[in-house]
Amino acid sequence: MNLFGRKKEEEKIKKEGMANTLGIDLGTLNTVVAKPSGDKFDLYKIPSVVAVKKEDPSYVLAVGNDAKSMLGRTPEDIIAVRPLRKGVIESVAQAEALIIYAMNKGTGESMDHVDRIVIGIPGDASEVEKNAVEEIGRKAGASYVLVISEGLAAAIGAGLPIAEASGTMVIDVGAGSSDIVVISLGGITDIETVRLGGDNIDDNIVDIVKKMYNVEIGIHEAEKAKIEVGMVNSDASPEIEKTTVIGKDMETNKPKEIEIDSKLVAEAAEPVVVKLIEALAVILKRMSPELISGVYRGTMVVGGTSQFRGLKERIYSELEIPAEISDDPMTVVAKGAAIVAAEPRALEPEVRLKAMK
Ligand SMILES: Nc1ncnc2c1ncn2[C@@H]1O[C@H](COP(=O)(O)OP(=O)(O)OP(=O)(O)O)[C@@H](O)[C@H]1O
Ligand SMILES: [Mg+2]
Repeated sequence: MNLFGRKKEEEKIKKEGMANTLGIDLGTLNTVVAKPSGDKFDLYKIPSVVAVKKEDPSYVLAVGNDAKSMLGRTPEDIIAVRPLRKGVIESVAQAEALIIYAMNKGTGESMDHVDRIVIGIPGDASEVEKNAVEEIGRKAGASYVLVISEGLAAAIGAGLPIAEASGTMVIDVGAGSSDIVVISLGGITDIETVRLGGDNIDDNIVDIVKKMYNVEIGIHEAEKAKIEVGMVNSDASPEIEKTTVIGKDMETNKPKEIEIDSKLVAEAAEPVVVKLIEALAVILKRMSPELISGVYRGTMVVGGTSQFRGLKERIYSELEIPAEISDDPMTVVAKGAAIVAAEPRALEPEVRLKAMK
């Protein structure tokens, strides 16, 4: 019954050579493309940013790094925007440009035809959102498009035992959304999505600094500091680290250096962590005793925000789940999507049903 986990089948595909397939993780901050290449993957990371005309935001001028480098250096009528917010597509035209760009990256300059493409999106995406992404993939030139939950893709990419009846759990803490997915027998059995992630932590850092020092810092400075010294409140009490950022003194309008330490970042992260723990508690409440043992043995945290020190300890102290932090948190969804794309039967109706809750 399990269609994802058949090792032999995968090996057969590898030997016989496969169709042109790609996996794409359509993220709020980063879009990652994985192209199977022998036993490995060619990976491309694209900032989920497009440059558009201010007057007509569906008119896309540049995508990814090109769009990013246009930031601040462009005429006033060009702006750089993100096609996704909180994991949801805000502009179809912009998302289409991003997906086409991602597909071209994946197939190389040759612009080969793409047979099958699997795209990971948040697990609680509505039918409308899901259909929109499928439609975009087809318009972008793929013959077949499958949309799957990021959590399921992450589990497959991480090699978790998704086919087993005992279950496994993936917690994907990204930039705009956090997905918790419980998987057993190759399909999703439960899911909770919190539309919060690293973006909110950056916003909170900006707010806290403003309140404490009357200094306004940019969102990128906040993110940089977060990554440098970030931690989550936990029993582990990681070492407190410090860094500095430059902001604008609101009173004098002059630049001012501000020190940000791990405790400030932990305070900024706390509302997001609390919501994540609450969502996990909801999942545990609904979970059958059959599944809880698998989840106890196999829970993995992925996504960029999983890299916070102390997160694993916090999850354990609150819920007694010994979660493992992925050593490949940013590309595991794209890899999982690529594995599914390389499986020819991945497009059968039965799998389609299992791919989203
Ligand atoms: N070392 C780190 N510590 C804490 N946060 C980090 C670290 N590295 C990256 N991040 C954060 O991870 C987030 C990006 O993660 P990821 O690429 O998984 O998100 P995404 O897939 O684009 O978003 P989503 O899944 O919500 O659509 C950003 O908020 C970034 O600041
Ligand atoms: Mg993601």
